[in-house]
Amino acid sequence: MSEFMNETIQTILTRRSNRSYLDKPVEKEKIDLILQCGVYSPTARGVQPWHFTVVENRRLLDKISEINKREYFANNNQNAKMSGLTEDYDNFRGAPMAIIISGMNGEKYAEVDCANATTNMAVAAHSLGLGSCYIASFRPAFSAPEGESLIKELGIPDGYTPYFALALGYVKEPPQERAARREGIINYVK
Ligand SMILES: Cc1cc2nc3c(=O)[nH]c(=O)nc-3n(C[C@H](O)[C@H](O)[C@H](O)COP(=O)(O)O)c2cc1C
Repeated sequence: MSEFMNETIQTILTRRSNRSYLDKPVEKEKIDLILQCGVYSPTARGVQPWHFTVVENRRLLDKISEINKREYFANNNQNAKMSGLTEDYDNFRGAPMAIIISGMNGEKYAEVDCANATTNMAVAAHSLGLGSCYIASFRPAFSAPEGESLIKELGIPDGYTPYFALALGYVKEPPQERAARREGIINYVK
């Protein structure tokens, strides 16, 4: 192990995407710290072109999942099958809550900035003993006929597009061993 190894690096290296959660709420103080880590992520030109929606209402997450399932099966049956989408599929992986990260329309790097925030929050969650899962598969619900009313129900301001969600909670079953890292993906130029 490197002599420079530290807790931050360990946390980054051991974060996983979790898809099995306990039915146990996440403490408000933890949610607030996680949000703070999102808000302090780097953004292009320092614009901070994002909005964070904390969804603790599981019924609303179920509603998004139901719409997605319908859209997937209606429009993209083959892809739905390839993604292992089943009738009981839950976009939010059974987590008790999720944070939806929306980006400002018209800002060139908004989606990248939201992605940075999502990763920072996933690492922060792990450091606090929580599991998380980075989610993009929930997006079709917002292009569905119910999309606009869903955005209103979520309180996402006008002019923002939901890009990512971070499912959060206490882990029930830890994930399987992670995939080996691809080789030959780094080069040095001196
Ligand atoms: C942009 C992005 C979108 C993702 N969307 C989903 C998703 O919709 N559902 C899901 O279960 N995992 C999703 N993931 C998690 C990846 O599947 C996961 O990060 C990858 O398999 C590596 O596993 P690890 O995070 O445990 O290292 C997403 C990850 C990223 C970065």
